[in-house]
Amino acid sequence: MLFCFRGCEFPMSKMEKVVLVTGANSGIGLALCERVLLHSSRIRLCLACRNMRRAEAARAGLLVAHPGADISILRLDVSSVKSVLEAAKEIKKRYQRLDYLYLNAGIMPNPQISFKAFFNGLFSRKAISMFATGEGLLTQQDCVTSDGLQEVFVTNLFGHFLLIRELEPMLCQPGRTSQLIWTSSSNARRSAFSLEDYQHSQGVEPYSSSKYASDLLSVALNRHYNKQGLYSTVICPGLVMTNLTYGILPSFFWTLILPIMWLIRIFTNTFTLTPYNGAEALYWVFIQKPEALDPRAKYHSLTSGFGNSYTEPKKMDIDEEMAEAFYVELLRLENQVLRNITQEKRNSSIRLQKAQRNQDFIA
Ligand SMILES: NC(=O)c1ccc[n+]([C@@H]2O[C@H](COP(=O)([O-])OP(=O)(O)OC[C@H]3O[C@@H](n4cnc5c(N)ncnc54)[C@H](OP(=O)(O)O)[C@@H]3O)[C@@H](O)[C@H]2O)c1
Repeated sequence: MLFCFRGCEFPMSKMEKVVLVTGANSGIGLALCERVLLHSSRIRLCLACRNMRRAEAARAGLLVAHPGADISILRLDVSSVKSVLEAAKEIKKRYQRLDYLYLNAGIMPNPQISFKAFFNGLFSRKAISMFATGEGLLTQQDCVTSDGLQEVFVTNLFGHFLLIRELEPMLCQPGRTSQLIWTSSSNARRSAFSLEDYQHSQGVEPYSSSKYASDLLSVALNRHYNKQGLYSTVICPGLVMTNLTYGILPSFFWTLILPIMWLIRIFTNTFTLTPYNGAEALYWVFIQKPEALDPRAKYHSLTSGFGNSYTEPKKMDIDEEMAEAFYVELLRLENQVLRNITQEKRNSSIRLQKAQRNQDFIA
């Protein structure tokens, strides 16, 4: 099929926008895929997931409602440097352009809830904001990955940063804009983040720290890349019932308090609750001109008491200098991990050569 543009004819496939979503096999990521496909059948959608079985199941589910849609899956474990580099290579091979990169995959491992804070807060004026932001309520236990990085930091932020850097030539193409969209959180708090310990190895709120880090990074990315046509936006999905939230409290507890939460929704708009509503701001950004978005705002998915979804921007608590200093630290860390990978490759090739020589000698 050919498409006519100012007298020239291009194959239709070249005009189709490419949308890649990390963590697309469940929750908010999957709901976003559904919404994007409902909006347009003329997109190429890539589900970038760590588990191929779950990715295939998500793809099959989307194809039931959208037969014939161009949906592919890609192996990507954002917590592994090697996996990110391999995925980036594969993306460059598969596509000639990348219009939307949704940086959505995220974890909150071993969350511990302070029941004392929970019950104190439940009957206080802070109840709604406590539920909406998790402030004072949640701590997590982080661990170190085989790359020597804090798992929450690398999954929620650094793996995505590496991916952006590897895909830079695709994302910054002359005469075209591309968008980075981060699924941040209202749990992103400045007080949980420190430039001296940006991986949050010393603290107990790695999730909050990593989400604040994504807010900072987005501001810095806009500063460095807008001139090259690349725009970054952060969104907050509100409080959504997904695998992530079911990891915080046992499911029977959520079932117990769900009626209360639906009631609270009459007084607050941040309880989006369903993945469809949570994906509102991610979808809204999809249909905006990136140049028109405020680089210092976080776009929130909100749902009214009557269940209507909408998006609203709120200024972020960001210091430009801190954002810049953090960006420099990330570039430094990128350099270091890439050097480590090169060294590892060299060592394994030396080991292989040695083994080969020994075998030849024995033979
Ligand atoms: N739910 C909320 O109330 C809420 C609020 C604020 C922000 N968020 C953010 O929303 C985003 C989506 O979360 P969700 O609520 O939809 O939870 P979810 O259903 O658990 O989705 C998380 C997705 O991330 C993927 N993922 C986790 N670690 C990964 C890794 N190392 N590599 C690749 N993919 C990985 C998961 O894959 P698997 O299925 O393989 O685990 C899953 O597809 C997260 O960034 C989260 O922080 C959620």
